[in-house]
Amino acid sequence: AFTGVVALDGPSGTGKSTVARRLATRLGARYLDTGAMYRAATVAALRAGVALDDGVAVTKVVEDAEIRISTDPEQASVRLDGDPVDAEIRSAETTAAVSAVSAVPAVRALLVDAQRELIGDGGIVVEGRDIGSVVWPTAAPKVYLTASPEARARRRAGELGADVQSVAGDIARRDGLDSTRAASPLAQAADAVELDTTELDVDQVVDRLHELTVAAD
Ligand code: C5P
Repeated sequence: AFTGVVALDGPSGTGKSTVARRLATRLGARYLDTGAMYRAATVAALRAGVALDDGVAVTKVVEDAEIRISTDPEQASVRLDGDPVDAEIRSAETTAAVSAVSAVPAVRALLVDAQRELIGDGGIVVEGRDIGSVVWPTAAPKVYLTASPEARARRRAGELGADVQSVAGDIARRDGLDSTRAASPLAQAADAVELDTTELDVDQVVDRLHELTVAAD
């Protein structure tokens, strides 16, 4: 069985979650969606009603929150204080607020610790923004997924059943915030392999990731 750690980073709309889950299933490995953890932390902050720009208050809420995430690629599930929040973490309200919460350094420190604990002895595909750069620098392979802005907006709109124009605006805004924050901004690790998925379908991306994983193992 695969015992390594695969890091899959990149902006939203590159198809990361779909291919990460499929790769994990193919490897017989676990799967960790770190974005779902930042989203659950955001739901906690929204429920508590704290000001999202109050880093101290947001950190306190996240510290007191119990975020439990499944690492089974066939069975996504996130619980906040025992409550399933799988739908709520994908809501427009959560999506609009998540960049502010994930920009708080102390929130990142808490979630990175939790992520490292979940990764444990490996055998896992981990997706996020800072996995190869911060969370698990010895991951192999480290892949940075990209796609043209048009392709990303189209995919995201398809998933959400929303209009491409408004999704494009939302993606651009979130990327801007994620890449310019002071604490571990979205950036390609120097030793990451860049994989442009614009012209590839899901099977092609998974095949390529599988090749890279076998080569690194
Ligand atoms: O991957 P997903 O789009 O669900 O991530 C939601 C948000 O969580 C991102 O826009 C980013 O602000 C934050 N995030 C992060 N670091 C990660 C994963 C997600 O800052 N490793």
